[in-house]
Amino acid sequence: MLSLNGLGKGEKLKLIEIFYIQKYLSKSHILVKMSRESWKSRWGFIMAATGSAIGLGNVWRFPYITYDSGGGAFFIPFLFALFTAGIPILIIELGIGGKTKRSPPLAFQKFFSKKKVGWVGWWAIIGAIFLASYYSVIIGWSISYIGLSPSLGWGKNPQSFFMNDFLGWTGNPLNLGGMNFGILAVLALTWVITGFIIIKGVTKGIEKCVKFVMPICWVLIMILIIRAVTLPGATDGLNWYLSPDFSKLSEGRVWINAYGQVFFSLSVGMGTMITYGSYMKGKGEIVNNSFIIAFADALFAFLSGLAVFGTLGFMASSIGVEITEVVQQGMELAFVTYPKAISMMPLGSGITGILFFSILLIAGLTSLISLVETASGSIMEAFNLSRKKATVIICLIDFGMGIIFATKGGFGWVNIIDLYVNYAGLIFIVLIEVILIGWIYNTKRLRIWVNYTSELTVGSWWDWSVKIFCPLFLIAGLAATIIDIIQSGYPKNNPYPNLAMIIGLTAFVVGMLIAYQLLQIQKVNTTMEKFED
Ligand code: TRP
Repeated sequence: MLSLNGLGKGEKLKLIEIFYIQKYLSKSHILVKMSRESWKSRWGFIMAATGSAIGLGNVWRFPYITYDSGGGAFFIPFLFALFTAGIPILIIELGIGGKTKRSPPLAFQKFFSKKKVGWVGWWAIIGAIFLASYYSVIIGWSISYIGLSPSLGWGKNPQSFFMNDFLGWTGNPLNLGGMNFGILAVLALTWVITGFIIIKGVTKGIEKCVKFVMPICWVLIMILIIRAVTLPGATDGLNWYLSPDFSKLSEGRVWINAYGQVFFSLSVGMGTMITYGSYMKGKGEIVNNSFIIAFADALFAFLSGLAVFGTLGFMASSIGVEITEVVQQGMELAFVTYPKAISMMPLGSGITGILFFSILLIAGLTSLISLVETASGSIMEAFNLSRKKATVIICLIDFGMGIIFATKGGFGWVNIIDLYVNYAGLIFIVLIEVILIGWIYNTKRLRIWVNYTSELTVGSWWDWSVKIFCPLFLIAGLAATIIDIIQSGYPKNNPYPNLAMIIGLTAFVVGMLIAYQLLQIQKVNTTMEKFED
């Protein structure tokens, strides 16, 4: 026991005061800690964050965009975008989350000590809800395709199988053509699984799940690559994938694609990395972790390209055509071209199909979980709801929105919403983020803090990137996209430019208004909250 004898009265009082202040502070500290869940381990966090980043975007979007942008030459703009924008923005998001220990809307308010800024966070949440609504549909397709793989007999004409038999695609989004109940069923299944995992909580649900499935996903992709490169003709595909056509680098579009792909793939711009960062314990190694997550994500995309192009090379050589003739647009790569290629395999096409679609399922589901956790975690915190209630609300909203994608005209809607969520929503939010951090908050202040959390540190290049480089590139990209939309009804080959534009813009404005409304009615205010460190 500490003896206070020999001290003056004033000193005694002072000591007692300090004692009580400390006691009180440590108690409130414990309260804060207890009320917020956190990852059990750093490994768990990395698995969760890479689980979010590695998704459908890596497995079919990256190979397709690479194909579309001149093969191997695309690695240059991709890596450039990764270093100049992807990693710096990942650091910002994990930094905001880690520093405030709050979900996006409240994190923004707390970080900038301004209620209005919370609007950006709410808008990101709306974006996440939109993305989840159709992302889940594609995961549902993957579940169906796992089941269908053993009977790849339909592989003879996967184009017509996918479009007519499977989707029942009416060819026109305005003609909904009734409900496709098969797809509705797998969509419901996807939501039940997702809701179940999230309700279990950050550690017991999400972390446990990702720690189990993500390593499996890496093993499966390695097996798939080995299978692909040992097929006859695979080297043609790989040569094509890995040999650069540098002339493409002069096209602005290729660079914009690279930035868009990097943002989408790293799961930034929708508050997810803020949410996952906010569950980090202690200091959290923000810079280190950002590099690890970004490299793992890029590596997985690269590996998926090997598997896909190896297989396509085999197909091209079996039918005796050039590889450029066998690749189709976007989504069809995974659900038409790839199944067709493996159906030609002499042996094991069923099992290869199961492997490929299981990878899509794991990669997609872990991303969907992160999207839903972002939204449900935010309403849970801002409206004082229980985890169960918040999760059920978000899952029901998303499932409800998803019903339109499960109609026979739904395929058109997936394409329309995808464009606007990615280009308009995501790029716009990232732009606001970098302007807020770069020009309103002081980049140096954030840099000092993230460096303090981490052994690996960033230098002043990071400030430059956030202040100048990212905003300029994002504005240029956004402008180019808007011009494209106005001129040609982007995306190219989109048969419904006007419809896409009206729906996209409506979603955009409605999203903004809802975000504003949520800001007004949220119950918790964090503008006066102090940071823990
Ligand atoms: N990164 C995911 C993918 O590559 C897609 C994605 C974009 C995402 N933004 C997100 C996932 C936000 C979760 C959260 O497929």
